[in-house]
Amino acid sequence: MKIGFAQMLPKLLDLSGNLEKIKALMTSEDYDVLVFPELATTGYVFENIDEVWNVAMSVDELVDFVTSVKRPGLIVIGFAEKYGDKLFNSSVAITPEGDYYLYRKIHLFDREKLWFSPGNLGFTVFDWRGYKFGMMICFDWIFPEAMRTLAVKGADLVLHSANLVLPYCQNAMTTRCLENHVFAITANRIGEERGVKFTGMSQITGVKGDILLRYSPDGEGLGFVEVNLFESRDKRIATLNNIMLDRRPEWYLDLTRGV
Ligand code: ACM
Repeated sequence: MKIGFAQMLPKLLDLSGNLEKIKALMTSEDYDVLVFPELATTGYVFENIDEVWNVAMSVDELVDFVTSVKRPGLIVIGFAEKYGDKLFNSSVAITPEGDYYLYRKIHLFDREKLWFSPGNLGFTVFDWRGYKFGMMICFDWIFPEAMRTLAVKGADLVLHSANLVLPYCQNAMTTRCLENHVFAITANRIGEERGVKFTGMSQITGVKGDILLRYSPDGEGLGFVEVNLFESRDKRIATLNNIMLDRRPEWYLDLTRGV
């Protein structure tokens, strides 16, 4: 499988310009999986909720836009989703056959809490071409429970759209992937918006925590690697250790009780 990311610089509040850019990128090369950043259609640093409403789309509107364009593989796009009287920070995975899967960011970062409702669809896994895929968005990475849930549900590859501002995620993803034996694509954005700087360095991480590809901190472009996603199904880490079968969930119950 040829899997990759589009590291890009969305223009704040320019929905139609960003959609055109996404369209050009998603048709420019052959691939199986291509992940775009969080809020790739809108930019990130909003000043008030009216700005968000002005650039939000329903998932059907975005899916119609993407499916009107011929593209070679599965794509994932982060967008501001309007749903009734709510806004979500969402990503949607759209197959070339036109099926789609929606994720709404569960762990909102900082001022996102002023505009977006926390995600209400859980961490789910979907099948495509014999493989299993899960989605999360940016700050979800700091909660190990997010990727663990996807891994327990059988994800081979985690599709991780991001707008990273803190310097930790790219290195932390090596542990997330190792402890779950899954692949991940972290598609990040670049540039600065209203004084907030984004870190670039989009990354594809392998099942042993190996960095298969890390992009530059400030360039736009596509990055791809060839992988065998079935490697994620072998959860052995030593002759007598399997990281999924060796879990002892009966001792983890406090985790689900909260604080
Ligand atoms: C983030 O979750 N966009 C930092």
